[in-house]
Amino acid sequence: MNKKVRKAVIPAAGLGTRFLPATKALAKEMLPIVDKPTIQFIVEEALQSGIEEILVVTGKAKRSIEDHFDSNFELEYNLKEKGKSELLKLVDETTGIRLHFIRQSHPRGLGDAVLQAKAFIGNEPFVVMLGDDLMEDKVPLTRQLMDDYDKTHASTIAVMQVPHDEVSAYGVIAPQGKGTNGLYSVETFVEKPAPEDAPSDLAIIGRYLLTPEIFNILENQAPGAGNEIQLTDAIDTLNKTQRVFAREFKGKRYDVGDKYGYMKTSIEYALRHPQVKDDLKQYIIDLGKKLEKADRPAPAKKLK
Ligand code: G1P
Repeated sequence: MNKKVRKAVIPAAGLGTRFLPATKALAKEMLPIVDKPTIQFIVEEALQSGIEEILVVTGKAKRSIEDHFDSNFELEYNLKEKGKSELLKLVDETTGIRLHFIRQSHPRGLGDAVLQAKAFIGNEPFVVMLGDDLMEDKVPLTRQLMDDYDKTHASTIAVMQVPHDEVSAYGVIAPQGKGTNGLYSVETFVEKPAPEDAPSDLAIIGRYLLTPEIFNILENQAPGAGNEIQLTDAIDTLNKTQRVFAREFKGKRYDVGDKYGYMKTSIEYALRHPQVKDDLKQYIIDLGKKLEKADRPAPAKKLK
């Protein structure tokens, strides 16, 4: 069975506790980077990679995601009436995409969120795209995984070198050997190891290409790290019956899953945004000078 990869699953059912109180009534995935919700970046990566259908697994307070990708007649009518064609174009970009939604009723972990996609995916290979990581490269990372699949017909998980003291925030792989052109065979996949137990510094970064056999494993998956049903544990089991590769990502990754990463990403994107980049750059330069001055020790008072 070597079917084409056509479908993507975007888990968006997390509680977003790192961004409270903003995420009490608003989905974390709707927090904007300048003027674009983070989930729109993910949807765009999927479409640029050639994905045809997307399932978003949502939880509570996620209605805004559905509305965002739906048409908004009132807004469109209003913009048309006022001749605001540029704004209308931006609104148009988010409609007409084949998005499907399903709710995960209890947040039991990433593995359980992906399991909700079983009926939607059926018996096809598919990709999972996590919303906390925005990726930039000449070829979109999801497309890179799909190109790998075309050659190997095997599940492939994106990984990236991270600083050793950060491995416990990730799933980590034990690679077999040095890999070929960035593609590794994998001994084991471990979720959130302590740095002293981590088999490498190659961390899973939120893009997965999986064969549908993962679903039977997820159905029987016991809770793991954090008492949650972990996708990484199911992938480790899958790897024992069919090959699962790891693809090392060499592009740029923006982690928007915590406040500091989110702020850095917002600043970097704003410095490229045609409407604000020049003013913001000047502001940052001026601010830098001000901060430097404030840090400098006050000049000693002259003795009389
Ligand atoms: C999840 C996965 C983890 C992966 C990470 C990437 O963890 O469980 O294996 O490395 O995403 O962002 P989370 O960030 O949801 O704790």
